[in-house]
Amino acid sequence: FACVAQAAVVEYTFNVGNLSISQLCQPPLIITAVNGQLPGPTIEAREGDTVVVRLVNQSPYNMTIHWHGVFQRGTPWSDGPAMVTQCPVKPGGAYTYRFNVTGQEGTLWWHAHTESYLRATVYGAIVIRPRAGAAAYPFPTPDGEETVILGEWWNANVYDLRRNAFLRGNPPINSNAYTINGKPGDFYNCSNANQTYRFQVRSNGRYLLRIINAALNTNMFFKVAGHRFTVVAADAAYTAPYDTDVVVIAPGQTVDALMVAGAAPGQYYMAASPYVSATPPNRGPRFSMSNATAVVEYAGSTTTAPPQPPTMPPYTDTATAFRFFTSLKAPVPSGAPAVPLSVDTRMFVTVGLGISDCQPAQLLCNPTGTRTLPVLAASMNNASFVLPPAGSVSMLQAHYDADGSAPAPSVYTRDFPDRPPVIFNYTADASDIPTLQYTTKSTKVKTLRYNETVEMVLQSTRLLANESHPMHLHGVNFYVLAQGVGNYDEAAAAPRFNLENPQERNTVAVPPGGWAVIRFQANNPGVWFMHCHIEDHLDVGLAMAFEVQDGPTPETSVPPPPLDLPQC
Ligand code: C2O
Repeated sequence: FACVAQAAVVEYTFNVGNLSISQLCQPPLIITAVNGQLPGPTIEAREGDTVVVRLVNQSPYNMTIHWHGVFQRGTPWSDGPAMVTQCPVKPGGAYTYRFNVTGQEGTLWWHAHTESYLRATVYGAIVIRPRAGAAAYPFPTPDGEETVILGEWWNANVYDLRRNAFLRGNPPINSNAYTINGKPGDFYNCSNANQTYRFQVRSNGRYLLRIINAALNTNMFFKVAGHRFTVVAADAAYTAPYDTDVVVIAPGQTVDALMVAGAAPGQYYMAASPYVSATPPNRGPRFSMSNATAVVEYAGSTTTAPPQPPTMPPYTDTATAFRFFTSLKAPVPSGAPAVPLSVDTRMFVTVGLGISDCQPAQLLCNPTGTRTLPVLAASMNNASFVLPPAGSVSMLQAHYDADGSAPAPSVYTRDFPDRPPVIFNYTADASDIPTLQYTTKSTKVKTLRYNETVEMVLQSTRLLANESHPMHLHGVNFYVLAQGVGNYDEAAAAPRFNLENPQERNTVAVPPGGWAVIRFQANNPGVWFMHCHIEDHLDVGLAMAFEVQDGPTPETSVPPPPLDLPQC
């Protein structure tokens, strides 16, 4: 007889509300958290399950939750980015998210996706294990699993911080600490034993670490002293096993790594430290150069020696980051759908920071519309993305109401450019800001036919800063065909595309002063956000959206909105 695994429905209630917490010797701070936990609850499911999460908003802020990396095939109204796929859940309101986790296994995560810093404390893990009764992991079964969420902590109300500082043109405000599972660890002044996460292992046990970078603004290096890792998955897509002593992880990304507890019994620090690529020439110290730590302790060890910290790469170590990112490959043969070989739409898209032109509604523009100070803007192909205004409708609602008609609905336009307006030396130094012209704020989408294949070159610019941009696409994974430094050169790069076993991801770290080529199939109708997962960059417009048209059948069309979908 056949034992057919039954997909289950897993249900959660997320009460978003106040949590009083005191870290780093500060007086208790009220933060916004889910179910009074930091990090919030882990969603545990098996591949093929249906996940139902009832969000009850008891916080004073507008709230939505995004299920980062979940495809949301057929459930676009559950994706979560505020004003893209839904109006936010107002204080006192509720909304039930329903989606399947089908065709993906590994680690993903969830976080607030409102126009603010709230995701600094509203986040948690999503663990998708193989279907019961079906094939197990494609690697030796671990003796234990541990979720390791990297984050950032501010000794302040993050909502107020964001409103008062960055958008007003002031320098961004560094976090006060990096964290592992919400705790800063021993290396911070005034951090005590309760503020260090501890993880117990048995000697020679094999552990699956599910590492998530939930930090708002910081790429991270991650190491465990005296131990190595075998990377087996990234962004809930399996990889060919990759042996390394360091994991590099950009905001938004996840890495699943096996670690054998094969060192002498004792205690070892795991640490996360910032990877800041090159030093920006014209900015002050942007990042705290501290490390978050947690302790790996061997059960039964009688050693009294204090744990040793790992030696972290220097924060500017782009070579280590580039090596890690380019070493991840899909397992071959794999059951995953193959890379689409024919391309319908090619796009060449710049990602970077620049200066906005002055618009009356903008901060720092005086009433006559002249600039009082340069206003930071970020853009893709020089279009700096703004969300539809609160009080209008979400982009997905506008798309649904327009029912495929042209012209585009009033909350967005369909003229996102396939090419930048000016071709220039993207990796030249920052002295020539007007080269790319002042950027204009707009809400532009790129419209795709159902099932169309898209290839996108993401070219970093360094007009203001030479930073890595972790570009995240909602609604579908993409293959990373190639990555490089400098200006993209099609003739040199295209023959080297990896079409055989490229890694599949939902977030690619475009190298600082470099480029990445991704390819995906638009097989999920709806409106899908694409943006830099550095919160400070998203806040100033480093985003766009794809509008994917309906396919031929009801199953390949955007369904009607759920009855409890919040109204603006
Ligand atoms: Cu994890 Cu649109 O974000």
